Amino acid sequence: MPLLDIRNLSIEFDTPQGRVRAVDRVNLSMNPGEIRGLVGESGSGKSLVAKAIMGILNERWHVSADRLRYNGVDLLSLSAKERRKLMGHEIAMVFQEPSSSLDPNDTVGHQLHESLPMDDCDVSFFKRKKWRQERIKSLLHQVGIRDDERVMKCYPHELSEGICQKVMIAMTIAYKPRLLIADEPTTVIEAGAQEQIFKLFRKLNQLNDVSILLITHDLAHVENWTQTITVMYCGQTVESGDTKQIFKRPFHPYTLALMQSMPHFDNKLSHKSQLSTLSGCVPTLQHLPIGCRLGPRCPRAQKTCVEIPKMEKVRGRYFSCHFPLLDDKRNDK
Ligand SMILES: Nc1ncnc2c1ncn2[C@@H]1O[C@H](COP(=O)(O)OP(=O)(O)O)[C@@H](O)[C@H]1O
Ligand code: SF4
Ligand SMILES: [Mg+2]
Repeated sequence: MPLLDIRNLSIEFDTPQGRVRAVDRVNLSMNPGEIRGLVGESGSGKSLVAKAIMGILNERWHVSADRLRYNGVDLLSLSAKERRKLMGHEIAMVFQEPSSSLDPNDTVGHQLHESLPMDDCDVSFFKRKKWRQERIKSLLHQVGIRDDERVMKCYPHELSEGICQKVMIAMTIAYKPRLLIADEPTTVIEAGAQEQIFKLFRKLNQLNDVSILLITHDLAHVENWTQTITVMYCGQTVESGDTKQIFKRPFHPYTLALMQSMPHFDNKLSHKSQLSTLSGCVPTLQHLPIGCRLGPRCPRAQKTCVEIPKMEKVRGRYFSCHFPLLDDKRNDK
C-alpha cells in the first residue's frame, strides 16, 4: 500500500472573475522509504499540493480529490483535531519561508525547548533539562549550526534566513516523521551548506525509512537526491516516473525543456550563449489556453493539441502529451 496516495487532486479559489483552478487533477503516489522530487517552474502549484496534504489551506481554498490518503487514511474526512495529531506525529513539513514559521517574539532556544518531543527521553525528571539541551545541541550540529549557544539566545529577526531555515529543519527532524515534505528547503541556505542538508535527508531516509517529498525548481538537486519525480506545469502533472530514466530520456516536451535549461558545466557553453528554454511564459490562471496548457509554448504542438491530452503509461512512465518524445506510430497522427 502506498504511504501517500493522491488521485485527481484539484485546488480552486474564488476571484472577482469567478472560480480559478490552480491545481488540476494532480496524481502523486509515494511508497514507504521513497524520495520523490516534485518539480516545475515557479507558480506551477507545487506548494499548494504540499499545503493540501498538510491540510493548512484556509477556507478560501476548495480542495477536492478522488483520493487523498496517507497510509490508507482519507485525509479529507479527518476532523481538524485528528489531522493535527497526524501532522504532529507522522507528517512534517519544511516551509519555503522559514522566518514566517518561527515565532518572532520568542528566542530560538526557547522555541526549540518547547517543540522538542520527549518520546525518546529515558532519564529521570531531574535530568530532563540537561537531556533537552544535549538533544537540541546535537540537532543543531546535524543541520550545520556550530555556534549553537549564540543561535539559541537570538530572536529569529537577529538571524539570517539560512540559519532560520536550518533551525526549522532541526525542529522537523526532531519529530522523526514518516513523511517529510521539504518545500524548497535549501533556497535560502548558502550553497556550501546545501549538500549537508541533503545528506542529512538521505541519512534520515536510509536509517529511519523516512519518505521525502522534495519540492524544488532546481533540477540538479532532484537528479542527485531523488529516486522518482513528478513534473508539474501550470497546475497539472505532465510526467512522472523513475528519476534516472526521466533524466536519460524525458517523454514530455516540457520535461525536456526543463532539463535543457539546466546549466551543465561539463558541456562547454560558448560565451554569452542562450540557455535553451521554451519561448513565452507561464500563462496566468485566468487566461489558460484551451487543450494542452503548454500548447502556445510547445515546439511540438499540432492541431490535436487543442484537445486535453490524457495521462498515458508507457514503460512504467506516466505522461500527458499527444506527441511525446517516443519513436512510435502515435507521433505520426
Ligand atoms: N494566496 C494566494 N492567492 C492567490 N493565488 C495564489 C496564492 N497562492 C498561490 N497562488 C497561485 O497558485 C498558483 C500556484 O502557486 P504555488 O503552489 O505557490 O506555486 P509553486 O509552489 O509551484 O511556485 C500560482 O499561480 C499562484 O499565483
Ligand atoms: S500535447 Fe501538444 S502542445 Fe502539449 S506538450 Fe504535447 S505536443 Fe506539446
Ligand atoms: Mg512554492
